[in-house]
Amino acid sequence: MDQFAATATADHLWRPYTQMLTAPPPLRARATQGCTITLEDGRRLTDGIASWWTACHGYNHPHIRDAVSDQLARMPHVMFGGLTHEPAERLAGRLAALLPSDLDHVFLAESGSVAVEVAMKMAAQYWLNQGVRTRRRFMAFQGGYHGDTFATMAVCDPEEGMHALYKGLLADQLIAPLPSDPSSAAAFDDLLARHARTLAGILVEPLVQGAGGMLFHDPSMLRHLRRAADAHGLPLIFDEIFTGFGRTGTMFACEAAGVVPDIVTLSKALTGGTMALSAAIARTHIFEAFLSDDPARALMHGPTYMANPLACAAANASLDLFEAEPRLAQIASIGAQMARGLQPCRGLRGVRDVRVMGAVGVVELDRIHDLNALNAAFVARGVWVRPFRNIVYLTPAFTITEGELAQLTEAVVDVLARASGEQLTSELIPVRRVKL
Ligand SMILES: Cc1ncc(COP(=O)(O)O)c(C=O)c1O
Repeated sequence: MDQFAATATADHLWRPYTQMLTAPPPLRARATQGCTITLEDGRRLTDGIASWWTACHGYNHPHIRDAVSDQLARMPHVMFGGLTHEPAERLAGRLAALLPSDLDHVFLAESGSVAVEVAMKMAAQYWLNQGVRTRRRFMAFQGGYHGDTFATMAVCDPEEGMHALYKGLLADQLIAPLPSDPSSAAAFDDLLARHARTLAGILVEPLVQGAGGMLFHDPSMLRHLRRAADAHGLPLIFDEIFTGFGRTGTMFACEAAGVVPDIVTLSKALTGGTMALSAAIARTHIFEAFLSDDPARALMHGPTYMANPLACAAANASLDLFEAEPRLAQIASIGAQMARGLQPCRGLRGVRDVRVMGAVGVVELDRIHDLNALNAAFVARGVWVRPFRNIVYLTPAFTITEGELAQLTEAVVDVLARASGEQLTSELIPVRRVKL
């Protein structure tokens, strides 16, 4: 019994992106409801992050909870090899109907990184199945983030992806600057032309590069990428793990650009922040490259918990909420309120930029001197905001009330105003790889 008690303490947990020797102990969460996280000691924090951008309907939404408990009573899990089930079939049909054009072929996995790996495998094997063995690399972009597994680290921004740390272990991918104007677009076209024959595909986070620094780009850039990919017959992969499900103002970022990618990845808000689930969704010409009399041309992937029925039930319930409740209108109001509420940050010393897209609000600083002190200042204000590197950002649930959002934006303004006065400079803590 004592042994079990011991293993329940945080001491045995190896925490994410955390220097276990020096990091302050994490806060203990006891319960979540709506946009509130209640801590073990009774403190209540208004959540500005929606648990890494997942809890888009707020926490513990009764409709998702009921769907998951119904499914739990019926069939929590069943293997997906050789078997199928209604929650997965319904979800796949609904995703195909929501996504544009013939993005109709849905592969379900359990994490964002794995969905990106599957998308890369789809693109690579698309060529292999046609007998082309020379297309082994991917083009991805500076500032990009696609996950922490080995294949995905290699397509992240070189800093973020820890290319230097894992030199020799990561595949050598082509990481380009994202074109932003006619001259960088021309440079991009040249680079692509030089490497296109060795490439299996192009991978990008559309509209917002999230964990790489909440960097926004214009939809016209995505149209440029589409044209460039078409010119070389390359599959274009949109990683919508962050941007999907309304975050940037339309249901999917690709809609805002009027671009149909060849493969899309989704996760994060797919289950409304309740269960681990992801998807890689391909257009018909990609899918058809896998159809053959030869079993070896099948997509060789199958995570044990793929299409988990509980997660599919949660995702279906989350989609019900997008249908039944005015999420896109809520996102537009959140964006307008964040733009007003964060505006005072513009005048503060050390603030480089303030930007808002959809329900993403960003204050970019010259630098953050003491991330731990900043985190503590937010908690003392009763809010949960997780700055990273030089970025303070808000990605709240779409159901957040005006009052709660005002509490968040006021906390950001106040804490940064005080920080710009006092510099929160006690010491410079070098947190290179703190994601969020
Ligand atoms: C755009 C994007 N792709 C992929 C991932 C990786 O997802 P996961 O952490 O579920 O593996 C993330 C996570 O932040 C992401 O933002």
